[in-house]
Amino acid sequence: MNTDFLKKLGIKKHNAGTSTGLQSVKSRKYIPSYTPVDGSLIGSVSQTTADQYEEVISKAQEAFKVWRMIPAPQRGEIVRQYGEQLRKYKDPLGRLVSYEMGKSLQEGWGEVQEMIDICDFAVGLSRQLYGLTMHSERPQHRMYEQWHPLGIVGIISAFNFPVAVWSWNAMIALVCGDVVVWKPSEKAPLCSVACQNLFHKVLKDNDVPEGVVSIINGNYRVGEFMTKDKRVPLVSATGSIRMGKIVGQTVAARLGRSLLELGGNNAIIVTPNADMDVVLPATVFGAVGTCGQRCTSTRRLIIHESIYDDVKNKLVNAYKQLRIGDPLDVNNHVGPLIDKDAVNTYLAALEKIREQGGKFAVEGGVLDGPGYESGCYVKPCIAEAKPDMEIVQQETFAPILYLLKYKDLDEAIAIQNGVPQGLSSAIMTLNLRESERFLSAAGSDCGIANVNIGTSGAEIGGAFGGEKETGGGRESGSDSWKAYMRRQTNTINWGDKVPLAQGIKFDLG
Ligand code: UN1
Repeated sequence: MNTDFLKKLGIKKHNAGTSTGLQSVKSRKYIPSYTPVDGSLIGSVSQTTADQYEEVISKAQEAFKVWRMIPAPQRGEIVRQYGEQLRKYKDPLGRLVSYEMGKSLQEGWGEVQEMIDICDFAVGLSRQLYGLTMHSERPQHRMYEQWHPLGIVGIISAFNFPVAVWSWNAMIALVCGDVVVWKPSEKAPLCSVACQNLFHKVLKDNDVPEGVVSIINGNYRVGEFMTKDKRVPLVSATGSIRMGKIVGQTVAARLGRSLLELGGNNAIIVTPNADMDVVLPATVFGAVGTCGQRCTSTRRLIIHESIYDDVKNKLVNAYKQLRIGDPLDVNNHVGPLIDKDAVNTYLAALEKIREQGGKFAVEGGVLDGPGYESGCYVKPCIAEAKPDMEIVQQETFAPILYLLKYKDLDEAIAIQNGVPQGLSSAIMTLNLRESERFLSAAGSDCGIANVNIGTSGAEIGGAFGGEKETGGGRESGSDSWKAYMRRQTNTINWGDKVPLAQGIKFDLG
């Protein structure tokens, strides 16, 4: 395996997993990063100690004092320069994402493109952090609102999008005037080192303190440093519902803010009015892309009974075309799962499907033999199931697609909504009445609802996130930036009297 891309990104055998001037990689513990591609050790990062965390936070606090007073468009200029670095390093960084996480190279490059896109969005936003002006009820008074940065924003991200999700949060927070401390997944820590090396170069070139962008590395205990820390007013966390409940409760206990983007159990409804040429590629990409490890992956296909067999047969044939193997080989569609634990979870789910009465249309299993030595390559599979089966109600982070049958659209929408999660959803139809019903207030209950598009692959321009156990947070585009700022209402009296609101009289003699 040619790993020149590691060198280009400044990734060494041992890397400092804690930033801001802490050059030493001395630590009590190292986190090794193994690639699921061939099982080899890529490198390691030092685990952040409690003392190092304190140092990171005090540097971040100092940096905030400088950063918040830099005009927002100038902060945008620094984010623009980071976007330029990403353009320059798109190839090696995309390769690192693919190598460390296991997604196909196309998707690795796509993830870096998603970072570039959010940089562009944030640059424009840096001139559009608008507040409203209101008419005061009092004479010679002016009232308006302005938005100020919060301070330190903590970002906890998952292994499946090891660079893009940090960028959604960080680039928006940065133009808003916040500084960011990032705890990446311990399953993909080297991606964070690469992102930070690039960002620190830009900060240095602009003579801005390094503490504007920091990383801390380790397991959930390192995340806990932030969730319990009053000096971190906002913690944005992406990952499992289990993790999100802990983060949400811990941050709420100190009345901090959290922004949660958690699991999905996303479905596509296929009506008799669907265009099959759209249904097939959208469904297959949604179900097997990133080896089923996107929070937006398509997990359930709700098919009208009149076309059920036809759709099933076409999907079975489409799955035969899938090439599973080394994700850095662009001929392959599907790479490995992240690690052996994920493989075990996948196998346990297959077992539960059988136990709970599901029937496989495409069988699953672990692949072995040449090219599959890491033991992390699995077969994407399709199971015929019932909506209320316990396993169907859960999110299994693996390429398992459930086929469910419906009779009328209300039933299909009820099935689609009848899970604890509420991230992404879609309907396949050329019929306006069906699609509008699906998008209405009585339709999908998800944060994302698409027509003739799969459930995954959202653009950065929209707000990203979902309802119910998905956590309710919105990241990335639209007006998600408001979560990263505090709103201040200002009323100014430019007259020589003190009239009171609500007509209250208060005369002193
Ligand atoms: C995730 O899986 O956590 O919409 C993020 C998508 C990607 C982002 C997924 N743009 O599939």
